[in-house]
Amino acid sequence: MYTASSDTEAMAKETANGELHAVTRPPPTPSPLRFSKFFQANLRILVTGGAGFIGSHLVDKLMENEKNEVIVVDNYFTGSKDNLRKWIGHPRFELIRHDVTEPLLVEVDQIYHLACPASPIFYKYNPVKTIKTNVIGTLNMLGLAKRVGARILLTSTSEVYGDPLQHPQTEEYWGNVNPIGVRSCYDEGKRVAETLMFDYHRQHGLEIRIARIFNTYGPRMNIDDGRVVSNFIAQAIRGEPLTVQTPGTQTRSFCYVSDMVDGLIRLMESEHTGPINIGNPGEFTMIELAETVKELINPDIPVKMVENTPDDPRQRKPDIAKAKELLGWEPKVILRDGLPLMEEDFRERLAVPKKQIK
Ligand SMILES: NC(=O)c1ccc[n+]([C@@H]2O[C@H](COP(=O)([O-])OP(=O)(O)OC[C@H]3O[C@@H](n4cnc5c(N)ncnc54)[C@H](O)[C@@H]3O)[C@@H](O)[C@H]2O)c1
Repeated sequence: MYTASSDTEAMAKETANGELHAVTRPPPTPSPLRFSKFFQANLRILVTGGAGFIGSHLVDKLMENEKNEVIVVDNYFTGSKDNLRKWIGHPRFELIRHDVTEPLLVEVDQIYHLACPASPIFYKYNPVKTIKTNVIGTLNMLGLAKRVGARILLTSTSEVYGDPLQHPQTEEYWGNVNPIGVRSCYDEGKRVAETLMFDYHRQHGLEIRIARIFNTYGPRMNIDDGRVVSNFIAQAIRGEPLTVQTPGTQTRSFCYVSDMVDGLIRLMESEHTGPINIGNPGEFTMIELAETVKELINPDIPVKMVENTPDDPRQRKPDIAKAKELLGWEPKVILRDGLPLMEEDFRERLAVPKKQIK
């Protein structure tokens, strides 16, 4: 007969038919210093990947609250110190060069775990490193959260739905992912990261939050990172043809970065583990997007069809009913308002001023 050890008893409950079921443990006790009146009054927040595109906007928002102290860890693979330059030297801000595949010990109350290259060009560059970042990196951050009793939010992705057979995608949909393709290091990596989050939640009582992020755009995206919005804007500014991958009827939804950051913070502060889709349900074909960029930025350039990449999903659109109901969140910035803000940032970085209309 199976005899449960005292440790197993804390995690498992025996049902009438003798089966053992996992029971969620209460969260670990945070450090006593957390509540010390004189030692620390602030919420200390760790943002991994905070030097990247979404991470740096999240840091800006978190730093607006004077009660927050923010620690960023980043290995600068796709991020840059430049994205955080206004905070370097600020007494409530710390920046650490660190790779999340190595263990880390810092006393924090919340962890926003974003570290992972998001653009296919970069995540395919070193696929083994990408999956290590997703799996070992997430394990390390969960280990840290467990040790210090922090709440942890993972930025997962719509890629967990793969090439979806359900449209729009709800959180209940399990996805249609190729496990051995060139994108699998990212897609399957994030799926394992989600599994680890839930296993730590069930087994160790960790407070977890999972956001499934859909395509996001805005200032500070890497120019030439191969993502469609940055590609089109850079091409339009440089006066090059807009390259649309065939067939051009594949759809994507685009969420402006300030809306995304708002969604992530609401999820972290909510009482819901997720996964919750965060994205803009407005759906555009790639040809429609190219035409909009052309109209807003450079009407003189042609649209050119090019070959597609393997495993490119045909349709992607979030069902955001859960985010609306549970977080009171929905995106506010429409594409036509967001694109010019990104254009402004790209023009500054490419040093191409806007032509004055006479
Ligand atoms: N931007 C999107 O449209 C989108 C969509 C879905 C999911 N996401 C997720 O959101 C998060 C942020 O994406 P982003 O668009 O800001 O990407 P990004 O590439 O701009 O930022 C990722 C950051 O993580 C850092 N990083 C990468 N590997 C690391 C490692 N091993 N150790 C430490 N730092 C590391 C990079 O240097 C960079 O600063 C990622 O987890 C990504 O998977 C983004």
